Amino acid sequence: MRRMRRDDFSRRLMREHRLSADDLIYPVFVLEGEQITQPVASMPGVNRVSLDNLLLLAEEAVSLGVPALALFPVIGDDKKSLGAEEAWNPEGLVPRVIRALKSRFPDLGVITDVALDPYTTHGQDGLIDATGYVLNDETLEALAKQALCHSQAGADVVAPSDMMDGRVACIRAKLDGAQQIHTRILAYSAKYASSFYGPFRDAVGSAGNLGKGNKYTYQMDPANSDEAIREVALDIAEGADMFMVKPGMPYLDIVRRVKSELKVPTYVYQVSGEYAMLKAASANGWLDDKACAMEALLSFKRAGADGILTYYALEAARWLKEDA
Ligand code: PBG
Repeated sequence: MRRMRRDDFSRRLMREHRLSADDLIYPVFVLEGEQITQPVASMPGVNRVSLDNLLLLAEEAVSLGVPALALFPVIGDDKKSLGAEEAWNPEGLVPRVIRALKSRFPDLGVITDVALDPYTTHGQDGLIDATGYVLNDETLEALAKQALCHSQAGADVVAPSDMMDGRVACIRAKLDGAQQIHTRILAYSAKYASSFYGPFRDAVGSAGNLGKGNKYTYQMDPANSDEAIREVALDIAEGADMFMVKPGMPYLDIVRRVKSELKVPTYVYQVSGEYAMLKAASANGWLDDKACAMEALLSFKRAGADGILTYYALEAARWLKEDA
């Protein structure tokens, strides 16, 4: 086996998987205001930015060949409510940001998060009853309105990350009913109730609202794998176009099963906690940031992912360019 590993040329010739900028989706946190860049303490290198600064990041993404951004809004407390009505306000932050991005960078894909947690006072992804239980069917119409609002503002892909049952069918019907036939649906089909989301909840400011609450009644149990296949199969039947496994590295087995068994466009989210671990260890000099990040991203490709949502997207694209 070592003969082929001896030289760079033969290692290159037998390399099975490669990472390219085409594989990357860059998640960004956007807030109201101007000239704002607020570092997220638990995610070194990641900032909450106002639209003007987001356009600079978008420009960089375009120049590095990163195909798409995923937008996550930071919503002020004054705009949060029990019913999350701000989520489908056509003049809200997200639709305004979509319109600005699509007019400046028409070829850059814009993916939006469909879930109510940035907009609810309790930080849950759906509407709740008096006991705090997240209601499924009552939430579906709210999600469909949110998705249509994003689509009509120009979003290329809407990405329901809420884990309600039946939301893909409901969103597809709503979009089609309004002639929004080209809007793709990226379903967070296998989204686990993970503790690796901690830094993200700090970044969007939903951690305080959620308090001691959790999302166990709708996100998946980390113990399960067959259930992920059922979730993806349901979302295929409901009309989703792209399928997400989340988090990433602790769930590479799920990525592999989805790709091998269902053969669909499969995406993986290297979540905030995974990013924080790599950055923290490298800040301490315990790991080499670039080498470990690139190895982690390559592992997603090897597991079968067609694309990767990662806070490393711009850095990784820059590293790929430098090394080319
Ligand atoms: C919520 C949402 C979460 C993330 C993306 N969308 C967290 C959650 O379910 O509470 C996490 C992403 C990350 O950790 O990077 N709709």
